[in-house]
Amino acid sequence: MSQAASPSTSATPQKPAAAAAQPTRRWFILSWFQAAWLAFTATMTAWFLWTLRFLFPNASMEPPMTFKAGYPDQYEDDKVVERYKEEYGVWIVRLRTPKGVEIFALSTVCTHLGCTPNWLENEQKFKCPCHGSGFMKDGTNFEGPAPRPLERYRIVLADDGQILVDKSRKFQKELGQWDDPEAAIRFS
Ligand code: FES
Repeated sequence: MSQAASPSTSATPQKPAAAAAQPTRRWFILSWFQAAWLAFTATMTAWFLWTLRFLFPNASMEPPMTFKAGYPDQYEDDKVVERYKEEYGVWIVRLRTPKGVEIFALSTVCTHLGCTPNWLENEQKFKCPCHGSGFMKDGTNFEGPAPRPLERYRIVLADDGQILVDKSRKFQKELGQWDDPEAAIRFS
């Protein structure tokens, strides 16, 4: 004789709808909270690392401020030497003037807005590709918008007789600084 199963033993217990939805909603809220917290942590870490960068000098990335550039007799009169342009941002020029011969180190930074001019051997001038400023072989500006001559760096003879260029000190013609004994190596 078959017996009808009693409701208490055969039916699967049903959770109320609200109770079933609860874990999903909790998970959703939790994941948003975690995402927000992760984003905040990542932002703070990035900010901290960015700040940390300024606490340490960038010395290893920069070329040295001083370098030796051979002996004066390795330079020809009235020639612009471009050998140090790429690495140090310097042209070395040996120039014959009415007062004698001088060797000086010119900055390759245009005094208009900081572009790098090119030395044009055929035209015997430095020409800036950005807005057309022109500079004579001694660095004096003569055309275009550049408001002043190129700057010169300190240049002296080292103990071993080599030319030593020191970029930590600059000389500006418009301030009368090109007459400084260390603005050029001079020979009579
Ligand atoms: Fe050289 Fe403007 S930056 S002319």
